[in-house]
Amino acid sequence: MSDNNQSLLNEPQGELVIRTVAMPADTNPSGDIFGGWLLSQMDLGGAITAKEIAMNRVTTVAITAVKFFNPVHVGDTVCIHANLLKIGKTSLTLHIDAWAVTVYHEKKRRLVTEADFTYVSIDDNGQPAVIMSDGRLME
Ligand SMILES: CC(C)(COP(=O)(O)OP(=O)(O)OC[C@H]1O[C@@H](n2cnc3c(N)ncnc32)[C@H](O)[C@@H]1OP(=O)(O)O)[C@@H](O)C(=O)NCCC(=O)NCCS
Repeated sequence: MSDNNQSLLNEPQGELVIRTVAMPADTNPSGDIFGGWLLSQMDLGGAITAKEIAMNRVTTVAITAVKFFNPVHVGDTVCIHANLLKIGKTSLTLHIDAWAVTVYHEKKRRLVTEADFTYVSIDDNGQPAVIMSDGRLME
C-alpha cells in the first residue's frame, strides 16, 4: 500500500505488535516525544515480528522512508503495527506504523510515524542465514 493511501485510511493496518505509553523521560527539549524513542519502539515491534517470521535471531540492516506526521505527547498510548512487505533469501522488510491516542481527550487515533524496516536473519556468528518461512504467519 502506498504511503498516501496509508495516511488516508485513518485506521491501522497489520498486526498490533506493541502497545505502550509515552513517558516524560521520552521527551525532546520542546516537550514532545523524541522521534528516536518512537523509532526504537517501531524497531522493537518489528524485530519481534521478524523473529517470529524468520524463526531465528534477526538484526536490523536498514530503516527507510521514515515519515513523522504528527507529534506524540506525554501520556499518549502508542500502538505499533507491522505489515510484511517482502521476504528475500535472508532478509525481510516490514512496513511499520506508529499510531497515538490521547485517551482522555480524544478517542480518535492518529498516524504519527511510518517507516520500512529491513531485518536480516542471522546465525550464531552474526552471518546472514536463509529464511525458510514464506511469511504466511502475517496473513
Ligand atoms: C546485517 C548483516 C549481518 C548483513 O551482512 P552482509 O554481509 O551485508 O549481508 P549480505 O550483503 O549478504 O545481505 C544480507 C541481506 O540483507 C540485505 N541488505 C543488506 N544491506 C541492506 C540494505 N542497506 N538495505 C536493505 N537490505 C539490505 C541484502 O539484500 C540481503 O538480503 P537477501 O538475502 O534477502 O537478498 C551485517 O550488515 C551486520 O551485521 N550489520 C549490522 C547490523 C546491526 O548491528 N544492526 C543494529 C543496528 S543498531
